[in-house]
Amino acid sequence: MPSGTNTNLEIVVLAAGRGTRMRSKLPKVLHCLAGKSLLAHVLDTARLLEPKKIHVVSGYGTKEIQLAFESAKDINWVFQREQKGTAHAVQQALPHIHNNSNVLVLYGDVPLISLGVLQNCVDRSQRVMRLVTTIMSDPAGLGRIVRDANNAVCEIVEEKDADDEQKAILEINTGILFAPGKELGGYLENLLPDNAQGELYLTDVIAAAVQDRLPVESIVCEKPMEVMGVNNRAQLAEIERYYQYRAATQLLAAGVGLADPKRVDIRGALTVGTDCFIDCNVVFEGVVVLGNGVWIEPGVIIRDSIIDDDVSVLANSVIEGARIESECVVGPFARLRPGTHLSAQVKIGNFVETKNVELGKGAKASHLSYLGDASVGAGSNIGAGTIFCNYDGVDKHKTEIGEGVFVGSNSTLVAPIKVDAGAFVAAGSTLNKNVESRDLAVARGKQRNIKGWLSPAAQREKRKS
Ligand code: UD1
Ligand code: CA
Repeated sequence: MPSGTNTNLEIVVLAAGRGTRMRSKLPKVLHCLAGKSLLAHVLDTARLLEPKKIHVVSGYGTKEIQLAFESAKDINWVFQREQKGTAHAVQQALPHIHNNSNVLVLYGDVPLISLGVLQNCVDRSQRVMRLVTTIMSDPAGLGRIVRDANNAVCEIVEEKDADDEQKAILEINTGILFAPGKELGGYLENLLPDNAQGELYLTDVIAAAVQDRLPVESIVCEKPMEVMGVNNRAQLAEIERYYQYRAATQLLAAGVGLADPKRVDIRGALTVGTDCFIDCNVVFEGVVVLGNGVWIEPGVIIRDSIIDDDVSVLANSVIEGARIESECVVGPFARLRPGTHLSAQVKIGNFVETKNVELGKGAKASHLSYLGDASVGAGSNIGAGTIFCNYDGVDKHKTEIGEGVFVGSNSTLVAPIKVDAGAFVAAGSTLNKNVESRDLAVARGKQRNIKGWLSPAAQREKRKS
């Protein structure tokens, strides 16, 4: 495939159907596979062909769909008011297509089409119609490929219009079709909705091309899952599992250790170094980068984060928008929210929540704390139950803790506040004033012990005697 724009290729993506069988208010093509909408999968692959234009035919939920792709400026939206069939849908796009262009039709609900298959499809050496087919053990509901005695494709018959002999055919139409625009337009004009569904079938252009002696070629896709359409949630789940297992297999091949390749989910782009281990039920979302020797325990969720070498993320931690430098230990049950930056060798323990906070090298918050809108210097220790009170109900304020500070357990630091290097905060203190370097801050009720105190029970005993 030569690089640069494929100047005579225009792609039409059909996405006007409601997808009734999804039983959802959301338009079918906006349902997600691996964290990305079905339509986004199709468009991302389509773009790799560098077509002159991409036309998306939408109908049901047009507004919602266009909003979801607001930032994609390379799409020409075509509105199909009534869904009168796949041929009718392509017809809506034709006035926008140059007469000399070749047209590739894709379905918005066939998300895993591979670039390789499409490249074979659009090879533009001659005037030809090409369709992509595949063999399915259970072809129920799909259009069957009817071949003649010479094994040439002569027509496609929809299941609802097929006789028993045709229903027994296992080769099915994936819907992916390539044709010269001019011929395609001509065939579409002459179609009639004379079928069981009363629709204009795009598949009828095959018979029209055969009759017109336009060469019809078929490309048989070896991997049915990669051309499978999503019609209901069971199929969506099946494709999701296929996608995830394929991704896990690629990780294993690249040298990543997985406890179970069937129990890891990647909903975005994951980059992993060498000698990492990922235990069961770990979910990656967005763009995640792991260095070398990263150890991830079960039940962890990591979203849009960068994690350096030899970091351990212990069970059931949730990490989002964080930067974690080497040799840190996070969790179990830690929650790192956006803006968290841990320098090397930081320890964040169980039930600690962080947000918009920088921790210096070797700093520790081992138990039950909230650290928000703050900086904590290298080597400082934040005791169990410490809360940085960053929010006054209107504004957020900063807590600044220097290096080597010791904050005793169950302390409350009311921001804005500064605790300078080497200071010591006594356990149970509520601070609202700055603490200077090396000072001890004590801000709690003084203890008094009452001599000879009698508990109510002891008082009763005494009365009885
Ligand atoms: C279609 C094919 C069938 C093929 C199957 C593969 C036809 C007549 N049948 O059947 O041969 O095996 O796909 O998945 O083409 N759409 C519109 N406007 C419409 C109708 C449909 O945009 O008026 C869109 C849908 O949103 C969907 C795609 O076209 O993305 C396919 O439509 P769908 O109704 O799912 O077709 P199938 O019955 O699955
Ligand atoms: Ca379909």
